[in-house]
Amino acid sequence: MSIQTSLKDRPQLTTENLLLRRPNEDDIGAIIDAVGDWEVACRLARVPHPYGEEDARFFLEHVVPSEWTWAITLKGSDQLIGAVGLTPEETADTAELGYWLAKPYWGRGIATAAARAVVSFGLDQLRLPFIKSGYFVENPTSGRVLQKLGFVETARATRACLAMGRDDVPSVEMRLEPSEQL
Ligand SMILES: CC(C)(COP(=O)(O)OP(=O)(O)OC[C@H]1O[C@@H](n2cnc3c(N)ncnc32)[C@H](O)[C@@H]1OP(=O)(O)O)[C@@H](O)C(=O)NCCC(=O)NCCS
Repeated sequence: MSIQTSLKDRPQLTTENLLLRRPNEDDIGAIIDAVGDWEVACRLARVPHPYGEEDARFFLEHVVPSEWTWAITLKGSDQLIGAVGLTPEETADTAELGYWLAKPYWGRGIATAAARAVVSFGLDQLRLPFIKSGYFVENPTSGRVLQKLGFVETARATRACLAMGRDDVPSVEMRLEPSEQL
């Protein structure tokens, strides 16, 4: 599947309890509520703070069409409770996994299940040779999510965090090989 085809015909993905679908205009309020929360924003690289309607529209109009991004919903409800996606790398034939959940939904295994579905799509359907990800050292919950999927640490580095206005946040770089998918 080519990048262009897969982005245009992005399939819905399902897990036992979740349905992952393309984010749309009706999600704007839920996106602002979730990502506008400092507790979410300070753990992400590319999210400004404060976060408003213009930022949610930028996400829908620029990020969603050019990346494999899904809204996370609970089966039986169309409400967006988070997002998960693969950002194509500019210089390599691979992609970086990212995800966030609205705070009321933390701690129920949702991020792991959603990310597992997206990782399988990336490795099995897109045939990515491997998938990268990373997390801030002070966010070990995300490290645990990646570990549960089979990602292993490849390096320690610093990364930018738009919400914090810093470009030197200590981070862990991770990588998942197809043979190590859990
Ligand atoms: C990171 C995030 C997506 C996790 O979502 P979640 O649905 O709560 O994650 P899960 O429940 O699937 O898994 C969390 C795991 O971390 C573990 N955990 C929780 N707090 C932890 C801590 N302080 N240290 C280590 N592990 C921790 C949980 O026990 C669980 O592991 P287990 O299943 O082995 O018990 C969510 O907290 C979030 O949206 N945070 C803000 C945005 C963000 O951090 N995105 C990722 C950026 S790299």
